[in-house]
Amino acid sequence: MVQTEEMSQLQQQALIDINEAANEKELQDVKVKYLGKKGSVSGLMKHMKDLPNEEKPQYGQQVNEVRQAIETEIESRQELLAKEQLEQQLATEKIDVTLPSRKMAIGAKHPLTRTIEEIEDLFLGLGYEIVDGYEVEQDYYNFEALNLPKSHPARDMQDSFYITEEILMRTHTSPVQARTMEKRNGKAPVKIICPGKVYRRDSDDATHSHQFTQIEGLVVDENIKMSDLKGTLELLAKSLFGDEREIRLRPSYFPFTEPSVEVDISCFKCKGKGCNVCKHTGWIEILGSGMVHPNVLEKAGYDSTKYTGFAFGMGPDRIAMLKYGIEDIRHFYTNDVRFLNQFKAVEDRGEQ
Ligand code: DAH
Repeated sequence: MVQTEEMSQLQQQALIDINEAANEKELQDVKVKYLGKKGSVSGLMKHMKDLPNEEKPQYGQQVNEVRQAIETEIESRQELLAKEQLEQQLATEKIDVTLPSRKMAIGAKHPLTRTIEEIEDLFLGLGYEIVDGYEVEQDYYNFEALNLPKSHPARDMQDSFYITEEILMRTHTSPVQARTMEKRNGKAPVKIICPGKVYRRDSDDATHSHQFTQIEGLVVDENIKMSDLKGTLELLAKSLFGDEREIRLRPSYFPFTEPSVEVDISCFKCKGKGCNVCKHTGWIEILGSGMVHPNVLEKAGYDSTKYTGFAFGMGPDRIAMLKYGIEDIRHFYTNDVRFLNQFKAVEDRGEQ
């Protein structure tokens, strides 16, 4: 039995439609029209039931041949269309290599990071270790271990953000002192600095920020004396602000040190004559310090009859403000690139 008229007409029409399909979408429509469940080829199959049994196999086979012919034609049309599309794309999407490229902005090290790293370098050179602590701290380490029991009036010096009764955002980096000594379990020497963020309930203004940075220092060993503290801080002052700087220790009070001192450096701007930077005193206060209180040593498991120590706490924010002439502490935390980019120039000049 040869193909029926209907079959050959359908096949011919299909081949015409396939070759007229101008894109893949149109080709897909043609495919559905002929080969889909309700398509014309399936329609041919429906005649099968009217045929005598002996003709059915051959009829079926012929329908399949039609189907295959259409499928093959669709495939080759598909390939051709894909190739044409690619060629067209390549022709229109030429890359113009002469266009100037987009500039990548290169950042600069944040002035606080620069200052902290400068101080770290100095102390690493003196054999200190850098230790990290927790920003969310226990009341015990933030206060009690530092000789500040619950009712101590000096707690008012540091207005705090409490999370629970016993947990707060640390108000200073001093808890790292207590934690480190406790961990070292009575062993000496301890020579550490601890840089990090601290938090206080201050209303923000040009010189106060609810979040700022501190670097804590602690040395514990036999025979540590006030003169060791003075020599160390003198070196720090000179390294930060120039070799001609001098320091002055003024008596002060901190619960965790005895005696306690406030440390001033001679003004780097007016060289002691008096100017706006030193508020016409010739001196600038840069840190708090003192000899570690025996109670603090004992609480952390050190024998205070055998060991002594000194400690200090400084604010890199204030130091960076002085060094770079920054008038508002909030510049450090608002991430204005116009401010930050100025430090690129400092970096390019290779300055500290
Ligand atoms: N923790 C003090 C503060 O935040 C600063 C300080 C003073 C730290 C004296 C010390 C120290 O280690 O000995 O105000």
